[in-house]
Amino acid sequence: MEILGIDIGGSGIKGALVDIRTGELKTERLRIPTPRPSTPQAIAQAVKELVDNFNYNGPIGCGFPALVINGVVKTAANIDATWVDVKAEELFSAQIGMPVYLLNDADAAGIAEITFGAGKGRMDTVFLITIGTGLGTAIFTEGKLLPNTELGHLKMYGKSAEKYCSDAVRKVKELTWKQWASRFNEYLAYIEFLFSPSLIILGGGASKKFELYAEFLNAKAEIVPAQLRNQAGIIGAAYRAWFKDSLNTASQ
Ligand code: BGC
Repeated sequence: MEILGIDIGGSGIKGALVDIRTGELKTERLRIPTPRPSTPQAIAQAVKELVDNFNYNGPIGCGFPALVINGVVKTAANIDATWVDVKAEELFSAQIGMPVYLLNDADAAGIAEITFGAGKGRMDTVFLITIGTGLGTAIFTEGKLLPNTELGHLKMYGKSAEKYCSDAVRKVKELTWKQWASRFNEYLAYIEFLFSPSLIILGGGASKKFELYAEFLNAKAEIVPAQLRNQAGIIGAAYRAWFKDSLNTASQ
């Protein structure tokens, strides 16, 4: 069964058809830049254009870079401020003409990794951190997600952790991998103090470059890159849409 998965990020909107039994991409991944300003109408239009490239009709899963509760966007750290309280699931479904299921982008990546990737079969506490424009987090225990954890906004030096050690900060401040990893290690220590995960999976754009900074990381937990790299968000969103849509269909 193939479901369209979409990952909306601070800099790009990516999509592909996903085989939800295996977690494999069945098409090439398409990417368009996130419109600026990233208003609800502009993003809904861009997502529609991306979807039109696929010959697809069915439920769509969509990861979104904010707190999402019952299809409503509740925060806007790395997207236009007008998103707060927008019923995004309704907006996207109406614009596209197909049911769209929305969830936090890090939760989507976590679902993919726990179902098909580096966290598969793990029953202990597993933590996923997406490192990109922001820092996204997902926590699993006994394979179950605690959604919308938003721990990229833990306070460090008086501001959100993501303003101290995201990949965007590394680029803007022109930090070496060693300098960035030393900041990120402080964040990992904070996470370990609070949650004692046994496995930490690093996802998002920086997961592709794991080899460049792995030697500088230190934590008590095992640290691995996302096995599905930065496709994880697309795969998890598709998987969630398939799951939620089958529940909806069963209850009709
Ligand atoms: C947002 C999170 C998101 C993360 C990664 C943060 O700024 O608050 O919801 O998961 O960025 O995109």
